[in-house]
Amino acid sequence: MFQASRPNTHLLQGEDKATAEESKEKMEAKLSSLAKTLTPSSIQQLSYLAQRCNAVNLAEGFPDFPAPIHIKDAAVSAILADFNQYSHVQGTCDYVARKTKEMHGMNVDPLTDIVICCGQSEAFAATMFSIIDQGMRLYYLIRHTKRMMFVLGLLEEFLFLMGGGKWQVYVGLDPPQWTLNSDKLEKSFTEKTKALVLNSPHNPTGKVFNKDELEIIAGACQRRDVVAVTDEVYEHITFDNQSHISLASLPGMQRRTVITSSLSKTFSVTGWRIGWAIAPTCIASAVRNIHIRMTDCAPVPFQEAALAALRSPPAYFDRLRRDYESKRDCIFNLLAKVGFKMQFKPQEFVEELIKQAGVVAVPGAGFFHSKPSAYYASTRYIRFAFCKSEDTLAAASLKISRLVDASGNLKLFLTC
Ligand SMILES: Cc1ncc(COP(=O)(O)O)c(C=O)c1O
Repeated sequence: MFQASRPNTHLLQGEDKATAEESKEKMEAKLSSLAKTLTPSSIQQLSYLAQRCNAVNLAEGFPDFPAPIHIKDAAVSAILADFNQYSHVQGTCDYVARKTKEMHGMNVDPLTDIVICCGQSEAFAATMFSIIDQGMRLYYLIRHTKRMMFVLGLLEEFLFLMGGGKWQVYVGLDPPQWTLNSDKLEKSFTEKTKALVLNSPHNPTGKVFNKDELEIIAGACQRRDVVAVTDEVYEHITFDNQSHISLASLPGMQRRTVITSSLSKTFSVTGWRIGWAIAPTCIASAVRNIHIRMTDCAPVPFQEAALAALRSPPAYFDRLRRDYESKRDCIFNLLAKVGFKMQFKPQEFVEELIKQAGVVAVPGAGFFHSKPSAYYASTRYIRFAFCKSEDTLAAASLKISRLVDASGNLKLFLTC
């Protein structure tokens, strides 16, 4: 809820102070009801606290390592070349279209179907304002980021003022693997549902929706004639060889899907504010009209630098994935070391068991169908075949028991 900030009047005294406080109260009363519901972001508050305590900040989701030099050079050149004025850099759209073709096999017209915005955040906000009217419902698959919540709050307020009712529906995914429950999805639709929002690859879980799950979502969107809006800012950052599939690339989906994404995460430039929406022509045109009225254009030197970014060779994207994977493993090991119970990773477990104990088992995944509902189970098991001689079983037992610690647990994964 709204928290009145402390009056910035500590330097004033007596009458001046009383007047300043009175005028501050008057101005606060003029705030919109939406503004009164907003509090400072909890992540930012934690970051301020971290700064005060000189703590290592693992709260805010921005990279603290440098952006690639080839794109920084391109941005510097654009500034030196005086790319200073409002402008739309068509070349960026051309490259977004080319990348979309390479990654997802989709043909997108860069002249009409792509809008460069100030980050995914603006692309998403403009998309929502383009497609949602009062009386319509929006569907959320999976939890969303704070910024999305703000946009939706804004939209909700706007629709409320126009006489609309409750309109957001959340379809929770099932932990711990965040699996999609197709019944839950089906039951959440109503005849008023207009759009479905999907964030994959997902922050913060890292979940990447697989083909089966996407087919379920695509089928539901098509049966109900619903628009899909995807947030794909992590499109290049997936783990354990999972590949990201865009919902838009499924048969029949491109014509009803808006993809939103950005440079922010892929090129470690969250402050450059370059993102885009890729949409059917009429929606792209609406998004463009809203974007132009809200911000006119994304920062032009960075639109220019985006060309260099999007032209990066495949090795750049491979390296990015590998780097993130090793950061993930490092935090994983660190947390395991201090007693967090970590999710079981059968493939790695089996590999470590071979290396450290000299015993081989197989991950259970190969024994499950690839249905979403089986995904969780398939990541929880490994199989030990016991159709072996007693000597073989005794040898395995001896080898494994050498790795058991004083409390009786197997010590694997304890090195960072
Ligand atoms: C899932 C997700 N989408 C979008 C964004 C924001 O992207 P952008 O910087 O392009 O606005 C974030 C930022 O943390 C995010 O985590």
